[in-house]
Amino acid sequence: MENSSTEILELSSLPKEKWWGDNCLYQVGGFWLLPEFVQSIDRVIKHFKPLPSDIILASFPKTGTTWLKSLLFSIVHRSSKDRLAIEHPHELVPILEVQIYTKSNEPLITTPSSTNNHFCQIFSTHIPYQLLAETLDSSECRVVYVTRNPKDTLISTWHFVNKWEKTKEESWPFEVAVDKFCNGPFPYGPYYDHVMGYKKLSMERPSKFFFVTYEELKNDTKTHVMKLAEFLGCPFEGEDVEEQVEDVVKSCSFEVLSNHEVNKSEESLIGSKFKVPYNSFFRKGAIGDHENYLCDVTIERIDALTREKFHSCGFMYGI
Ligand code: A3P
Repeated sequence: MENSSTEILELSSLPKEKWWGDNCLYQVGGFWLLPEFVQSIDRVIKHFKPLPSDIILASFPKTGTTWLKSLLFSIVHRSSKDRLAIEHPHELVPILEVQIYTKSNEPLITTPSSTNNHFCQIFSTHIPYQLLAETLDSSECRVVYVTRNPKDTLISTWHFVNKWEKTKEESWPFEVAVDKFCNGPFPYGPYYDHVMGYKKLSMERPSKFFFVTYEELKNDTKTHVMKLAEFLGCPFEGEDVEEQVEDVVKSCSFEVLSNHEVNKSEESLIGSKFKVPYNSFFRKGAIGDHENYLCDVTIERIDALTREKFHSCGFMYGI
Protein backbone atom coordinates (compact mmCIF):
# COMPACT_ATOMS: atom_id res chain seq x y z
CA MET A 1 0.00 0.00 0.00
CA GLU A 2 1.49 3.32 -1.10
CA ASN A 3 0.84 6.32 1.12
CA SER A 4 0.62 8.66 -1.85
CA SER A 5 -1.81 6.56 -3.90
CA THR A 6 -5.45 7.57 -4.07
CA GLU A 7 -6.57 4.39 -5.79
CA ILE A 8 -9.11 2.29 -3.96
CA LEU A 9 -7.79 -1.06 -2.87
CA GLU A 10 -9.99 -3.68 -4.55
CA LEU A 11 -10.79 -6.81 -2.59
CA SER A 12 -10.56 -8.84 -5.78
CA SER A 13 -6.85 -8.00 -6.01
CA LEU A 14 -6.03 -9.55 -2.62
CA PRO A 15 -5.35 -13.11 -1.46
CA LYS A 16 -8.33 -14.43 0.48
CA GLU A 17 -9.03 -17.42 2.70
CA LYS A 18 -11.99 -18.79 4.61
CA TRP A 19 -11.82 -18.40 8.36
CA TRP A 20 -15.16 -20.07 9.01
CA GLY A 21 -18.31 -20.97 7.05
CA ASP A 22 -18.59 -18.67 4.06
CA ASN A 23 -16.64 -15.89 5.78
CA CYS A 24 -13.34 -14.90 4.25
CA LEU A 25 -10.47 -12.72 5.37
CA TYR A 26 -8.26 -10.78 2.96
CA GLN A 27 -4.51 -10.57 3.22
CA VAL A 28 -2.66 -7.25 3.13
CA GLY A 29 1.05 -7.06 3.93
CA GLY A 30 0.93 -10.46 5.61
CA PHE A 31 -2.06 -9.63 7.87
CA TRP A 32 -5.63 -10.97 7.63
CA LEU A 33 -8.36 -8.34 7.47
CA LEU A 34 -12.15 -8.43 7.53
CA PRO A 35 -13.57 -7.44 4.13
CA GLU A 36 -15.71 -4.73 5.79
CA PHE A 37 -12.56 -2.88 6.87
CA VAL A 38 -10.03 -3.46 4.10
CA GLN A 39 -10.83 -0.21 2.32
CA SER A 40 -11.14 1.89 5.45
CA ILE A 41 -7.81 0.52 6.67
CA ASP A 42 -6.34 1.47 3.32
CA ARG A 43 -7.78 5.00 3.72
CA VAL A 44 -6.32 5.36 7.20
CA ILE A 45 -2.91 4.29 5.89
CA LYS A 46 -3.07 6.72 2.98
CA HIS A 47 -4.83 9.71 4.49
CA PHE A 48 -4.60 9.82 8.27
CA LYS A 49 -2.09 12.46 9.37
CA PRO A 50 -1.83 12.42 13.15
CA LEU A 51 -1.13 15.73 14.86
CA PRO A 52 1.87 15.85 17.20
CA SER A 53 -0.58 16.13 20.11
CA ASP A 54 -2.61 13.07 19.07
CA ILE A 55 -2.54 9.89 21.09
CA ILE A 56 -2.98 6.62 19.23
CA LEU A 57 -4.06 3.55 21.14
CA ALA A 58 -3.04 0.50 19.11
CA SER A 59 -3.96 -3.07 19.95
CA PHE A 60 -4.79 -6.50 18.65
CA PRO A 61 -8.55 -6.98 19.20
CA LYS A 62 -9.70 -8.34 22.58
CA THR A 63 -6.54 -7.48 24.46
CA GLY A 64 -7.95 -4.70 26.67
CA THR A 65 -8.67 -1.91 24.19
CA THR A 66 -11.91 -0.83 25.88
CA TRP A 67 -10.20 -0.63 29.26
CA LEU A 68 -7.28 1.39 27.88
CA LYS A 69 -9.69 3.71 26.07
CA SER A 70 -11.38 4.45 29.36
CA LEU A 71 -8.10 4.94 31.18
CA LEU A 72 -6.57 7.18 28.50
CA PHE A 73 -9.74 9.26 28.27
CA SER A 74 -9.85 9.68 32.06
CA ILE A 75 -6.17 10.57 32.28
CA VAL A 76 -6.17 13.06 29.41
CA HIS A 77 -9.63 14.60 29.85
CA ARG A 78 -9.62 14.41 33.63
CA SER A 79 -12.39 16.90 34.20
CA SER A 80 -14.69 15.10 31.73
CA LYS A 81 -14.18 11.57 32.95
CA ASP A 82 -17.79 11.36 34.20
CA ARG A 83 -18.78 11.00 30.55
CA LEU A 84 -17.74 7.35 30.92
CA ALA A 85 -20.91 6.83 32.90
CA ILE A 86 -23.12 7.75 29.96
CA GLU A 87 -21.05 7.16 26.82
CA HIS A 88 -19.46 3.97 25.58
CA PRO A 89 -15.62 4.02 25.67
CA HIS A 90 -15.60 3.22 21.95
CA GLU A 91 -17.59 6.39 21.20
CA LEU A 92 -15.30 8.52 23.36
CA VAL A 93 -12.21 7.07 21.67
CA PRO A 94 -13.23 5.99 18.17
CA ILE A 95 -11.49 3.32 16.08
CA LEU A 96 -9.97 4.95 13.01
CA GLU A 97 -10.81 2.20 10.54
CA VAL A 98 -14.19 1.23 12.01
CA GLN A 99 -15.77 4.54 12.97
CA ILE A 100 -13.90 7.36 11.24
CA TYR A 101 -12.44 6.54 7.81
CA THR A 102 -15.51 4.59 6.85
CA LYS A 103 -16.73 6.26 3.68
CA SER A 104 -14.25 8.69 2.24
CA ASN A 105 -10.69 9.93 2.40
CA GLU A 106 -11.81 12.67 4.75
CA PRO A 107 -12.12 11.63 8.36
CA LEU A 108 -15.75 11.31 9.35
CA ILE A 109 -16.18 12.38 12.92
CA THR A 110 -19.71 11.07 12.95
CA THR A 111 -20.13 10.50 16.64
CA PRO A 112 -22.00 13.26 18.41
CA SER A 113 -20.15 12.37 21.55
CA SER A 114 -16.64 12.38 20.14
CA THR A 115 -14.50 15.04 21.67
CA ASN A 116 -13.87 17.87 19.26
CA ASN A 117 -11.16 19.06 21.52
CA HIS A 118 -8.08 19.39 19.36
CA PHE A 119 -5.85 19.33 22.39
CA CYS A 120 -4.85 15.68 22.67
CA GLN A 121 -7.32 13.78 20.54
CA ILE A 122 -7.27 10.09 21.28
CA PHE A 123 -7.87 7.59 18.48
CA SER A 124 -7.61 3.86 18.46
CA THR A 125 -6.69 1.33 15.79
CA HIS A 126 -6.10 -2.37 15.35
CA ILE A 127 -3.91 -1.78 12.29
CA PRO A 128 -0.53 -3.53 12.70
CA TYR A 129 2.57 -1.34 12.89
CA GLN A 130 3.93 -3.08 9.78
CA LEU A 131 1.11 -1.39 7.79
CA LEU A 132 0.96 1.89 9.68
CA ALA A 133 4.68 2.61 10.02
CA GLU A 134 4.84 5.59 7.68
CA THR A 135 1.80 7.23 9.27
CA LEU A 136 3.05 6.84 12.83
CA ASP A 137 6.68 7.62 12.08
CA SER A 138 5.89 10.81 10.18
CA SER A 139 4.26 12.40 13.22
CA GLU A 140 5.32 13.29 16.74
CA CYS A 141 2.16 11.60 18.01
CA ARG A 142 2.47 9.19 20.91
CA VAL A 143 1.42 5.55 20.70
CA VAL A 144 0.16 3.32 23.49
CA TYR A 145 -0.02 -0.41 22.74
CA VAL A 146 -1.77 -2.95 24.92
CA THR A 147 -1.42 -6.69 24.59
CA ARG A 148 -2.71 -9.74 26.40
CA ASN A 149 -1.85 -13.40 26.97
CA PRO A 150 -2.43 -15.16 23.62
CA LYS A 151 -4.66 -17.88 25.09
CA ASP A 152 -6.94 -15.37 26.84
CA THR A 153 -6.98 -13.25 23.68
CA LEU A 154 -8.13 -16.26 21.68
CA ILE A 155 -10.93 -17.12 24.15
CA SER A 156 -12.10 -13.52 24.29
CA THR A 157 -12.14 -13.27 20.48
CA TRP A 158 -14.11 -16.48 20.13
CA HIS A 159 -16.80 -15.21 22.53
CA PHE A 160 -16.86 -11.79 20.86
CA VAL A 161 -17.24 -13.09 17.30
CA ASN A 162 -20.06 -15.35 18.40
CA LYS A 163 -22.00 -12.28 19.55
CA TRP A 164 -22.03 -10.71 16.10
CA GLU A 165 -25.30 -10.53 14.24
CA LYS A 166 -23.87 -12.57 11.37
CA THR A 167 -22.82 -15.44 13.65
CA LYS A 168 -26.40 -15.91 14.81
CA GLU A 169 -27.03 -18.21 11.84
CA GLU A 170 -23.74 -20.04 11.92
CA SER A 171 -21.53 -19.79 14.98
CA TRP A 172 -17.73 -19.96 14.87
CA PRO A 173 -16.72 -23.46 16.00
CA PHE A 174 -14.24 -23.44 18.86
CA GLU A 175 -11.77 -25.89 17.24
CA VAL A 176 -11.72 -23.75 14.10
CA ALA A 177 -10.96 -20.64 16.16
CA VAL A 178 -8.04 -22.40 17.88
CA ASP A 179 -6.70 -23.68 14.60
CA LYS A 180 -6.93 -20.33 12.83
CA PHE A 181 -5.34 -18.52 15.77
CA CYS A 182 -2.31 -20.83 15.59
CA ASN A 183 -1.98 -21.19 11.89
CA GLY A 184 -4.31 -19.43 9.56
CA PRO A 185 -6.45 -16.44 8.84
CA PHE A 186 -7.57 -14.75 12.06
CA PRO A 187 -8.88 -11.14 12.13
CA TYR A 188 -5.88 -8.75 12.22
CA GLY A 189 -3.60 -11.79 12.70
CA PRO A 190 -1.09 -13.25 13.00
CA TYR A 191 -1.37 -12.14 16.64
CA TYR A 192 2.35 -12.73 17.26
CA ASP A 193 3.49 -10.53 14.37
CA HIS A 194 1.07 -7.80 15.46
CA VAL A 195 2.45 -7.76 19.00
CA MET A 196 6.12 -7.97 17.97
CA GLY A 197 5.70 -5.09 15.52
CA TYR A 198 4.86 -2.70 18.34
CA LYS A 199 6.99 -4.39 21.01
CA LYS A 200 10.22 -3.81 19.09
CA LEU A 201 9.43 -0.11 18.75
CA SER A 202 8.65 0.34 22.40
CA MET A 203 12.14 -0.96 23.15
CA GLU A 204 13.83 1.19 20.51
CA ARG A 205 11.79 4.37 21.08
CA PRO A 206 10.29 4.34 24.56
CA SER A 207 9.51 8.05 24.49
CA LYS A 208 7.10 7.50 21.59
CA PHE A 209 5.78 3.97 22.13
CA PHE A 210 4.35 2.85 25.47
CA PHE A 211 3.84 -0.91 25.69
CA VAL A 212 1.77 -2.47 28.43
CA THR A 213 0.17 -5.85 29.01
CA TYR A 214 -3.34 -6.55 30.25
CA GLU A 215 -1.85 -8.61 33.07
CA GLU A 216 0.51 -5.82 34.23
CA LEU A 217 -2.43 -3.46 34.28
CA LYS A 218 -4.62 -5.87 36.24
CA ASN A 219 -1.92 -6.62 38.77
CA ASP A 220 -1.02 -3.00 39.48
CA THR A 221 -3.38 -0.59 37.77
CA LYS A 222 -2.36 2.39 39.90
CA THR A 223 1.33 2.29 38.99
CA HIS A 224 0.53 1.95 35.30
CA VAL A 225 -1.99 4.77 35.35
CA MET A 226 0.70 7.04 36.82
CA LYS A 227 3.25 5.85 34.24
CA LEU A 228 0.76 6.46 31.42
CA ALA A 229 0.04 9.97 32.68
CA GLU A 230 3.79 10.75 32.78
CA PHE A 231 4.26 9.31 29.29
CA LEU A 232 1.40 11.41 27.92
CA GLY A 233 2.83 14.55 29.46
CA CYS A 234 0.02 15.09 31.94
CA PRO A 235 1.23 13.69 35.27
CA PHE A 236 -0.98 13.75 38.33
CA GLU A 237 -0.09 16.67 40.54
CA GLY A 238 -1.06 18.16 43.86
CA GLU A 239 -1.45 16.93 47.39
CA ASP A 240 -4.21 14.50 46.54
CA VAL A 241 -2.37 12.56 43.78
CA GLU A 242 -3.16 9.28 45.46
CA GLU A 243 -6.89 10.05 45.50
CA GLN A 244 -6.92 11.29 41.91
CA VAL A 245 -5.24 8.11 40.67
CA GLU A 246 -7.48 5.87 42.72
CA ASP A 247 -10.48 7.69 41.33
CA VAL A 248 -9.38 7.02 37.73
CA VAL A 249 -8.59 3.37 38.48
CA LYS A 250 -11.97 2.84 40.11
CA SER A 251 -14.05 4.58 37.46
CA CYS A 252 -12.36 2.45 34.76
CA SER A 253 -12.55 -0.85 36.60
CA PHE A 254 -14.43 -3.70 34.99
CA GLU A 255 -16.91 -3.75 37.85
CA VAL A 256 -17.83 -0.07 37.53
CA LEU A 257 -17.72 0.23 33.73
CA SER A 258 -19.64 -2.94 32.99
CA ASN A 259 -22.47 -1.78 35.23
CA HIS A 260 -23.21 1.47 33.43
CA GLU A 261 -26.49 1.22 31.51
CA VAL A 262 -24.83 2.30 28.27
CA ASN A 263 -22.31 -0.53 28.50
CA LYS A 264 -25.02 -3.09 29.23
CA SER A 265 -27.05 -2.07 26.21
CA GLU A 266 -27.50 -3.90 22.91
CA GLU A 267 -26.98 -0.67 21.00
CA SER A 268 -24.48 -0.88 18.20
CA LEU A 269 -21.21 0.99 17.64
CA ILE A 270 -21.86 4.17 15.66
CA GLY A 271 -20.34 3.99 12.19
CA SER A 272 -19.49 0.30 12.21
CA LYS A 273 -20.34 -1.64 9.07
CA PHE A 274 -21.89 -4.49 11.01
CA LYS A 275 -23.75 -4.73 14.28
CA VAL A 276 -21.45 -4.97 17.28
CA PRO A 277 -23.43 -4.51 20.50
CA TYR A 278 -22.04 -2.25 23.22
CA ASN A 279 -22.33 -4.98 25.84
CA SER A 280 -20.11 -7.38 23.84
CA PHE A 281 -17.04 -5.43 24.98
CA PHE A 282 -17.59 -6.48 28.59
CA ARG A 283 -17.62 -10.18 29.38
CA LYS A 284 -15.52 -11.45 32.29
CA GLY A 285 -12.48 -9.20 32.45
CA ALA A 286 -10.26 -11.82 34.08
CA ILE A 287 -6.77 -13.25 33.70
CA GLY A 288 -6.51 -16.96 32.83
CA ASP A 289 -10.03 -17.68 31.59
CA HIS A 290 -8.47 -19.91 28.91
CA GLU A 291 -7.98 -22.57 31.59
CA ASN A 292 -11.75 -23.08 31.51
CA TYR A 293 -11.72 -23.81 27.78
CA LEU A 294 -8.41 -25.24 26.57
CA CYS A 295 -7.18 -28.79 27.10
CA ASP A 296 -3.52 -29.51 27.95
CA VAL A 297 -2.69 -30.45 24.36
CA THR A 298 -4.02 -27.16 22.98
CA ILE A 299 -2.31 -25.18 25.74
CA GLU A 300 0.98 -26.85 24.80
CA ARG A 301 0.36 -26.14 21.12
CA ILE A 302 -0.11 -22.42 21.77
CA ASP A 303 2.72 -22.27 24.32
CA ALA A 304 5.11 -23.81 21.79
CA LEU A 305 4.16 -21.09 19.34
CA THR A 306 4.62 -18.44 22.01
CA ARG A 307 8.12 -19.74 22.79
CA GLU A 308 8.98 -19.68 19.09
CA LYS A 309 7.53 -16.25 18.32
CA PHE A 310 8.08 -14.32 21.57
CA HIS A 311 10.65 -16.03 23.77
CA SER A 312 13.13 -16.66 20.98
CA CYS A 313 13.15 -12.88 20.39
CA GLY A 314 13.78 -12.17 24.06
CA PHE A 315 10.18 -11.28 24.89
CA MET A 316 9.46 -13.63 27.78
CA TYR A 317 5.71 -13.26 27.79
CA GLY A 318 2.51 -15.17 27.17
CA ILE A 319 2.77 -18.55 28.91
P1 A3P B 1 -12.95 -11.11 28.24
O1 A3P B 1 -13.67 -11.50 26.99
O2 A3P B 1 -11.83 -12.05 28.57
O3 A3P B 1 -13.82 -10.86 29.39
P2 A3P B 1 -11.18 -5.29 23.86
O4 A3P B 1 -11.57 -4.12 24.66
O5 A3P B 1 -9.78 -5.19 23.30
O6 A3P B 1 -12.19 -5.66 22.87
O7 A3P B 1 -11.05 -6.50 24.90
C1 A3P B 1 -12.18 -6.99 25.55
C2 A3P B 1 -11.75 -7.75 26.78
O8 A3P B 1 -11.39 -6.83 27.82
C3 A3P B 1 -12.87 -8.60 27.33
O9 A3P B 1 -12.22 -9.71 27.95
C4 A3P B 1 -13.51 -7.65 28.32
O10 A3P B 1 -14.32 -8.28 29.28
C5 A3P B 1 -12.26 -7.03 28.94
N1 A3P B 1 -12.52 -5.73 29.56
C6 A3P B 1 -13.35 -4.74 29.15
N2 A3P B 1 -13.30 -3.71 30.01
C7 A3P B 1 -12.42 -4.04 30.99
C8 A3P B 1 -11.96 -3.38 32.16
N3 A3P B 1 -12.39 -2.19 32.53
N4 A3P B 1 -11.05 -4.04 32.94
C9 A3P B 1 -10.61 -5.26 32.60
N5 A3P B 1 -11.02 -5.94 31.50
C10 A3P B 1 -11.91 -5.34 30.70
